[in-house]
Amino acid sequence: MKLLSHSLALTATLGSLLVNAYPLLQPRLLSAQPVAAGFSDPNSDPFYAAPSNISAYKKGDIVRSRATTSTFKDNKNLDHSYQVMMRSENTQNQAIGGVATILVPKKIADGAPKILSYQNFEDAVSLSCSPSWAYVDTSNSTAKLAANIEAPFYVNWAIEQGYYVVIPDQEGPANSFIAGRTEGKIILDGIRAIIGNEKLQNSQVALFGYSGGAHAAVWATELHEEYAPEVPIIGAVHGGTPIDPEHLLNFLNGGAFSGFAGAGLIGVMSQHPDLKKFVYDHLTPEGAALLEKAVQPNVCIGEIVTQFAFVDYFKYVNISNPLQDPIAQKTLKEETLLKSKASYQISVPKFPRLIYHALGDEVVPFNDSQQYVKDQCAGGANIQFVTLPLAEHVTGEAEGIPMAVDYLGQLFKGTQPKVACGTAPGLFNTGDQSKVAAVMGSDLASKYAQVRNQPAKVQGAHGMQPSKDGKSAAPANNLAQAKSSAVSLVQGLLGL
Ligand SMILES: *[C@@H]1O[C@H](CO)[C@@H](O)[C@H](O)[C@H]1NC(C)=O
Ligand SMILES: *[C@@H]1O[C@H](CO)[C@@H](O)[C@H](O)[C@H]1NC(C)=O
Ligand SMILES: *[C@@H]1O[C@H](CO)[C@@H](O)[C@H](O)[C@H]1NC(C)=O
Ligand SMILES: *[C@@H]1O[C@H](CO)[C@@H](O)[C@H](O)[C@H]1NC(C)=O
Repeated sequence: MKLLSHSLALTATLGSLLVNAYPLLQPRLLSAQPVAAGFSDPNSDPFYAAPSNISAYKKGDIVRSRATTSTFKDNKNLDHSYQVMMRSENTQNQAIGGVATILVPKKIADGAPKILSYQNFEDAVSLSCSPSWAYVDTSNSTAKLAANIEAPFYVNWAIEQGYYVVIPDQEGPANSFIAGRTEGKIILDGIRAIIGNEKLQNSQVALFGYSGGAHAAVWATELHEEYAPEVPIIGAVHGGTPIDPEHLLNFLNGGAFSGFAGAGLIGVMSQHPDLKKFVYDHLTPEGAALLEKAVQPNVCIGEIVTQFAFVDYFKYVNISNPLQDPIAQKTLKEETLLKSKASYQISVPKFPRLIYHALGDEVVPFNDSQQYVKDQCAGGANIQFVTLPLAEHVTGEAEGIPMAVDYLGQLFKGTQPKVACGTAPGLFNTGDQSKVAAVMGSDLASKYAQVRNQPAKVQGAHGMQPSKDGKSAAPANNLAQAKSSAVSLVQGLLGL
């Protein structure tokens, strides 16, 4: 009953709050504000341009670095933060410069050095939306609000525990959203960079990501054995995980969140030149203009959601069934994590994982996650799989936070409960304030209560609003207003 009522509270609040613009806006969390002197949009910041001899570096080697003041600056246990460019690799095995943000705690946890690799969901295809830029305190990236709604829990919790944090720009220099191999390699090289630079030998690494961040994280787990077996991953947590790009495209196409499908298509094309040529060979001029709009500076998650809603991409090509074409199928079979479709051998990581998914997820298909877990379990994996019975995609992001943080803590302590693969010990009662406080401390727990009780504001941060029936999220009618409804919430989350 308790479990049921907490989830109901979360869903019932949907629809009740579409807040008008706040009188006291925190300007730096909103866009259309001048940025303070210092860093600038990655589109014009030379830090993001790889040197011509990038291939002379070893994977994970740091090419350059610079100190930053991050949005997590008020964390009392944060010592300093900095950005690095490290050598990484794209899907075609070419050397690229990857960027990551590194946060170093003051008081370091006892025992083996512990590292959280936090993957933010960028869900867009413009460098302006790179996490490294969204986590700069003075940034005016339009991604900043969305990037800082769940991150304060994971990142500030980890820093308070004395864990190191690395936040990769997993999409890389070509904005390769949903291109799994590029994302996974950049994550693994970001971890190599922090281990090398901070001299964290014999460390323990755990990964977290939700949604677009989960897609990146699951690919890092997939590529770990082949690409970076020496990276000491002890476990991973991801939720709302996209598993199969073809199903994702069909699921989203023409619907409220078709923007993510368009961004995913552009991101995947960035790593599959043959697919890109195929698409452009059949794209109408209107289709080409549409895709061009998505890659403009500061077209980030909120803009992707609101400007590309209800788009039927298949109307913009002059062939029928383009996905059945052998060129499309070749890419789709390389980019899927479904065993029944993949053209390569999917690995089965042995480290423990928590994977969760909202049953009513309207953005990422639930059934593909479930199938992935089934396949992994059949191969001998160690996975807790949690179904959030009453959540949709964004409330699922919020509802998963205490459970995910709890599991990450258990991983680092080596105390995560062993369950039969694919099952779960039970739902975390997120309404139980003392239980949440036991996981993340009383300060973060009271901040969590604000997030839990204001789902419409959480949706607002993503450029969304509650749907008419209150059961799911919808693209915001007014992006600026939706975002401004969330500013004071996010500002409060970051202040410690
Ligand atoms: C950010 O600030 C810069 C410099 O003041 C300005 O050129 C740019 O348009 C701003 N971007 C946004 C999205 O407000
Ligand atoms: C790459 O080139 C720069 C500038 O010439 C040089 O300082 C650096 O040592 C080179 N890196 C490697 C790994 O060769
Ligand atoms: C499809 O569109 C492309 C690009 O606009 C054009 O070059 C091509 O001739 C068209 N093909 C057909 C069969 O209409
Ligand atoms: C999941 O559902 C979608 C339709 O919503 C379907 O296309 C896909 O085949 C299903 N996936 C699995 C693994 O059954």
